[in-house]
Amino acid sequence: METQQKPPHLRLIEDEHSVTRIVQAAMAQTASPRLRSVMGLLVQHLHDFLREVRPTDEEFELALEFIAALGHATHATNNEVVLAADVLGLSTLVTVMNNSTQDGRTPGALLGPFYRANAPRYACGDCVVQDDAPGLPLFVRGTVRATDGTPLSGALVEIWQASPVGLYDNQDPRQPDRNLRGCFHTDEQGAYHFRTVRPAGYPVPTNGPIGTLLDAQQRHPYRPAHIHFIVAAPGYRTLVTQVFVDEPQALESDVTFGVHRQLVGHLERIDHGHSPWGNVPAPFYTLDFDFTLEPGEQSFPKPPID
Ligand code: BEZ
Ligand code: FE
Repeated sequence: METQQKPPHLRLIEDEHSVTRIVQAAMAQTASPRLRSVMGLLVQHLHDFLREVRPTDEEFELALEFIAALGHATHATNNEVVLAADVLGLSTLVTVMNNSTQDGRTPGALLGPFYRANAPRYACGDCVVQDDAPGLPLFVRGTVRATDGTPLSGALVEIWQASPVGLYDNQDPRQPDRNLRGCFHTDEQGAYHFRTVRPAGYPVPTNGPIGTLLDAQQRHPYRPAHIHFIVAAPGYRTLVTQVFVDEPQALESDVTFGVHRQLVGHLERIDHGHSPWGNVPAPFYTLDFDFTLEPGEQSFPKPPID
């Protein structure tokens, strides 16, 4: 039998490992060293992953369809790609890696998809609730300090949260625009305080491919109740974080894995007397939570929605 001629010196595919080497070699001229290194590692890990998983052709097609569906489900009011990163723990991993808590800095947490620009500006003590929907009042107070302990006066404390039925203003036509959002500034002692309503946990969007995945994994789509904070001051690294309501079961099963141990706040229920300011009769809750910023550059996140 006649043997076929093979070009022995050409770099061609011979086995499953040669694919990886040849792909990496094809990218070796990438001008940016960072892009070269990131893409080289991405190919290495993705190829290793496929060699371990050994998908059938049908499974591989299904995976590509799933990724395409993330794109199709992404539009002005929903980012399914970000949601995928959230429910796989990728967003939290990057947040934890980029927000060291050394020197006592308050841990960061996801910005989330519901941050909006132009929150109303309030004076300390004001109430961010613009409607009369039922829910127990919550009085929040604390101090913003630098890692060396200096109180930071004039620091921005911006907050946003879901309502007692678990909806942000932009998801709920019954809420006034920018309800439960507000910007405050700390006083001479670095202190802030405001009135709100006890927030509820809520589900992440489940009508796209991520909802299908959560279903298949028998996972619920809920985030525990929380208040988002951005705390910023000139000369300090801006803190984007969340403070969680201390409801143990919900905390342990956050669908986005966002609950850092140090971000659990204690909501104290008060059944007698009056609120610490504003003369509101019990029952109500109080929450004391301090923030610590590290020296660095002040910057502000881009709102993911209008
Ligand atoms: C949020 O906290 O607002 C959020 C974070 C990730 C996914 C969905 C919502
Ligand atoms: Fe949220």
